[in-house]
Amino acid sequence: MTVMTRPAAQRTIEAPELAPADLVKPKLISLEEAKAMNVGQMAEEFNAHINPGQMHFMKLLGFNKIKVESAEGMYYTDQNGRKILDFFGGFGSLALGHNHPRLLEARKRFQDEKRHEIAIAFMSQYAAALAHNLAEVSPGGLDMVFFGSSGSEAMEAAVKLAERAAGPKRSKVVYAENSFHGKTKGVLSITDGALYRGEFRLVDNTVRVPFGDIVAIERAFRNDPEIGTVVLETIQGGGGIVEAPEGFWPKLRALCDQYGVIWVADEVQCGYGRTGRFYAFEHYGVVPDITALAKSLGGGKTAMAAMIARRDIYMKAYGSPKTAMIHAQATFGGIGEACATAIEALNVLYEEDLIENSAVVGEYLIARLRDLQAKYPKLIKDVRGKGMMVGLEFQDFSQTMPMVLRPVVSVLDDKLKGSLSGFVGALLLRDYNCLVAFTEYNRNVIRLEPPLVATRGDVDTFVDALDSLLGRGVVAIVKDFVKSQVS
Ligand SMILES: Cc1ncc(COP(=O)(O)O)c(C=O)c1O
Repeated sequence: MTVMTRPAAQRTIEAPELAPADLVKPKLISLEEAKAMNVGQMAEEFNAHINPGQMHFMKLLGFNKIKVESAEGMYYTDQNGRKILDFFGGFGSLALGHNHPRLLEARKRFQDEKRHEIAIAFMSQYAAALAHNLAEVSPGGLDMVFFGSSGSEAMEAAVKLAERAAGPKRSKVVYAENSFHGKTKGVLSITDGALYRGEFRLVDNTVRVPFGDIVAIERAFRNDPEIGTVVLETIQGGGGIVEAPEGFWPKLRALCDQYGVIWVADEVQCGYGRTGRFYAFEHYGVVPDITALAKSLGGGKTAMAAMIARRDIYMKAYGSPKTAMIHAQATFGGIGEACATAIEALNVLYEEDLIENSAVVGEYLIARLRDLQAKYPKLIKDVRGKGMMVGLEFQDFSQTMPMVLRPVVSVLDDKLKGSLSGFVGALLLRDYNCLVAFTEYNRNVIRLEPPLVATRGDVDTFVDALDSLLGRGVVAIVKDFVKSQVS
């Protein structure tokens, strides 16, 4: 028999008698002290308690030198009063920009009135109203809402609902190559990143297909009667802003109807007006059976996520008193101030015509970037996207880095070798005060997801900066980046 032993280093904590000294307040940092921390102190605590490995990337991009003192609209302001234009937008979390005044006011009112937060025992008028509003903006009978606080949580809820509604004989889930649906254990199984999946033991009721490949999906549905669900981002974000081919979505809808498969559309990143429609799937004239929102749903002020499903599907899974609590709201589901913020944010989204602004200004952004592509064809490979969900793909320099730079880049991080995005992103921040986002699965792509309040003037500021930087040429860009690492 093998005896399991504890590792020698494991600490056991005896429970001594409680002495009065034990009740003395530990050495805690106060809120005022937190506010006054400098970047060195912040980095020290980050290294000591949050994620030392991540500091490596923050240094590469120059993030470790910045302390944000405030944020408003399109801009961060740092400790030196420098304004940084936000074309990153928290991967689509800032549709309304930073600290929209109406959200600040709504939150203040909620606090002044001492409203209740936890909505587990009593009902919440705010959760009820937000659910109503989400049903109102969702087409095709998507009208049952589950609240959570992250995209992963909403997607977990979506996949669980689909699995229960499909039934135990149809528990297999189709997902796509280069998908990203979150890092919690369930949805990790349908997130296609080797780095994230690592050596975790994942659920095995999944079938992977190429994104946008209707033939592969039909083959899978036809050959495997156990498939009951298909989960897809409507536009892939982590994959590098990738759209399915023309005609894909209506065909998917038809196939799902034919084979009785539940379609879950992940709109966590591409939803909430980002592409110029409230949901990205609305561009294609079809409606999924279940969808999920997060990120901007909280107005950039709070953590709020929702799964929204057709009532018949919801009722099949959880519709009786016996099944109602199987996946009922978690502790913070439908929490008060977050719901109040989300209600106000949705009203602002429509009253300020931000969805239309996303379509119009997004088109202008794409047009200006295409002009840059024509100017720098050796640097920019592709410009793509919809509304303000835009991908800028650089040419891959892994095989073609100019000879003069090879010794320089050979010392760089593997992720940066051959890819201009890291260099361009770091220099846009250092020299032009512009923030952009990188892409998990395609290191050559910069993601541009600015707040939907962006104007043509903001686009001009950003594109002019990029133009000036690219005008330096690849050799100078790489050399300037390397210099930035040693200065
Ligand atoms: C498409 C998509 N789904 C799900 C998630 C997970 O959201 P969260 O990070 O809030 O858990 C993300 C996050 O980037 C996402 O882009």
